[in-house]
Amino acid sequence: MANAAVEEQGPVAQPLIIGHRGASGYVPEHTLGSYALAVTLGADYIEPDLVMTKDGELVARHDNELGLTTDVALHPEFAARKRSKTIDGIALNGWFSEDFTLAELKTLRAVERIPDVRPGNARLNRSMQIPTLQEIIDLTKDLQRSQGREIGLYIETKHPSYFQQQGLSMEAPLLKILKENGLDSAEAAVYIQSFEVNNLKQLRRDSNIRLIQLYGEGQPFDQTLSGSSLTYAQMSTPKGFKQVAEYAVGVGPHKSAIIPLDSKGRLDPANTTRYVADAHAAKLKVHPYTFRAENSFLPVNLRRGDDPSARGAIEQEMNIFLDAGIDGLFSDQPDIAVKVRSLRK
Ligand code: G3P
Ligand code: CA
Repeated sequence: MANAAVEEQGPVAQPLIIGHRGASGYVPEHTLGSYALAVTLGADYIEPDLVMTKDGELVARHDNELGLTTDVALHPEFAARKRSKTIDGIALNGWFSEDFTLAELKTLRAVERIPDVRPGNARLNRSMQIPTLQEIIDLTKDLQRSQGREIGLYIETKHPSYFQQQGLSMEAPLLKILKENGLDSAEAAVYIQSFEVNNLKQLRRDSNIRLIQLYGEGQPFDQTLSGSSLTYAQMSTPKGFKQVAEYAVGVGPHKSAIIPLDSKGRLDPANTTRYVADAHAAKLKVHPYTFRAENSFLPVNLRRGDDPSARGAIEQEMNIFLDAGIDGLFSDQPDIAVKVRSLRK
């Protein structure tokens, strides 16, 4: 289908605040509790990363390797499922979503990914399940009623080429669920994001849902697989942005593409690149990732004290990027972004 010339609709506040993996600064990521908190803290959109189960269901995890964020290692019945695999060129040893049915995954419980930095989150370990996409949509619909506002879904397809190789393509089941829920139009409060290129182009052909091209390091993995020379750096030139704008309405870069840290790890707006200006010239929205409040994630000149878990000058970081012209941001602590936005009005 044609690329709809759609800008913001649905939850329209500017800049757009996306609850990254929910409110993952406060609750273990990609749980209904994390998403619900993000909404009640004022996020415009919540961000489910999706992977596939053995029986073709879409569930929310950042990684198809489950040991990082679930208690699978504590389940003796799944000990024999431990495998060594290479996912997008990275060798991993663990338990993988595509080796589990949804019913099996539902016996697991989420745990905190970074308990040393987020010990409060770890106190919620093993209290919540891995949610399906449908469960997230149901939560969103109910929260829309209680909150009295529209809440968006900013969905990421994780490892789309890998899952395609496993016979578990993500795109058709994703579009099916969105259609069943009336969320498959350009007017719906939905974005679909991907670090790969070809699955976004496929989604553009098959739907009018708004798409976001994520940017990482090196090459999109589908381009590596196909022998293409296309790199994220090429996609960040004026010509590259124009090509992305043929299928996407926006781009999601790492913050460093907009303002790289200096050699001492400091953030200085004087180092702002042309990324936002060139993306805007191609009529692309710019939603960088990821704004995290703890000192351990902040530039050295925005840290407060020596405790890596303590909150640093995250408001200053957000304001520097908002001054650079971004249109939205991903944050693990969406409440802080909401407050920063309200103070800029
Ligand atoms: O999708 C935006 C951002 O979440 C990309 O990074 O690794 O947290 O999914 P990641
Ligand atoms: Ca993501």
